[in-house]
Amino acid sequence: MKIAVLPGDGIGPEVTHEALRVLDALRLPGLTLFEGDVGAAGYRDHGHPLPPETLQMAREADAILFGAVGDPSCDDLERHLRPEQAVLGLRKELQLFANLRPATMFSGLEELSGLRPEIARQIDLLIVRELTGDVYFGDKGTRTTDSGEREGWDMMSYSESEVRRIAHTAFRAAQTRQNRLTSVDKANVLETSQLWRDVVIEVAVEYPDVALEHMYVDNAAMQLVKAPGAFDVVLTGNLFGDILSDLASMCVGSIGLLASASLGDRQTAHGTFGLYEPIHGSAPDIAGQGKANPMATILSAAMMLRHSFGLEDEAKRIEDAVARALKNGIRGGDLGGDMGCEAIGKAVCERL
Ligand code: NAI
Ligand code: MG
Repeated sequence: MKIAVLPGDGIGPEVTHEALRVLDALRLPGLTLFEGDVGAAGYRDHGHPLPPETLQMAREADAILFGAVGDPSCDDLERHLRPEQAVLGLRKELQLFANLRPATMFSGLEELSGLRPEIARQIDLLIVRELTGDVYFGDKGTRTTDSGEREGWDMMSYSESEVRRIAHTAFRAAQTRQNRLTSVDKANVLETSQLWRDVVIEVAVEYPDVALEHMYVDNAAMQLVKAPGAFDVVLTGNLFGDILSDLASMCVGSIGLLASASLGDRQTAHGTFGLYEPIHGSAPDIAGQGKANPMATILSAAMMLRHSFGLEDEAKRIEDAVARALKNGIRGGDLGGDMGCEAIGKAVCERL
């Protein structure tokens, strides 16, 4: 089990350290860690936010545990040298097309949700977002027309095979949960969405045990706030998924709790190659102060054990330990508490 650990910038190293503490506490045999530079650290020492040696290390690993990138000192750099390019580069180079973002309400935190507690309590969903296609990667540009007006464009497109592979990911995920899948599109207006819907319906034939429904994205945004408990797995494209996953995750309460996996096609000995990271950034405002909540990164490590190493029981043990810590009142600053990063990491370990 080879893990490329890429702590990155700001609070990235602090939260990654605690996730490694938790992995260490599990005493998994055969675990080998490699550490690489990314982000501002990569730029400082190697002249690039995703140095070739880091990319190579990531390619040779079975999984990547990623902290966060971003540093205010890099704000004036050209776009391709900025720290944030590291994560975009990894996703693209390694074809990590399936972004999984679970949003689950932890018991005891309902009051922190933007939703009413009785509604927040129902949240237990998984967003499966396509990550390497759509309008973000289509032809784009700006120009000045003959009449002197400025114009900008970004082309939205999906190929059949791109939709098919992410649909399989989502159906398989639904089979491990409540066997319900909501595919979100805008098929009433967009041709891309019509193809999306047609392909999802074709793939559904292979999963007769999963109940499939389709929903327009505007309605999905409304329903996620109105009745989030109605969703199990939500499948959607890159643009809609970007927006809906932030929306869903914030219904849960804190950015310091939300984990993610970005999976590719490549199979490892016991699962799928993937990159695992908290959804938050490098939080320069609290970096270096030991104040960050490491739970999102710890939960990302649990996802890594599940998806890349087939260690479902160990993943559940970590998730249970985090849930119990929260129930026992272990709270970082993001949850209105005053516990530091290291203390939270140790509190989770004690409960393993
Ligand atoms: P951010 O997520 O870093 O921080 C937003 C707010 O949440 C801040 O007040 C921060 O202190 C707080 N926060 C975030 N994580 C926390 C944690 N674990 N515990 C407690 N509080 C936490 O987003 P922001 O400020 O917009 O971006 C900062 C930098 O991070 C930027 O350079 C941005 O580009 C980068 N970024 C990187 C990402 C990545 O590496 N995947 C994702 C998002 C942003
Ligand atoms: Mg986003």
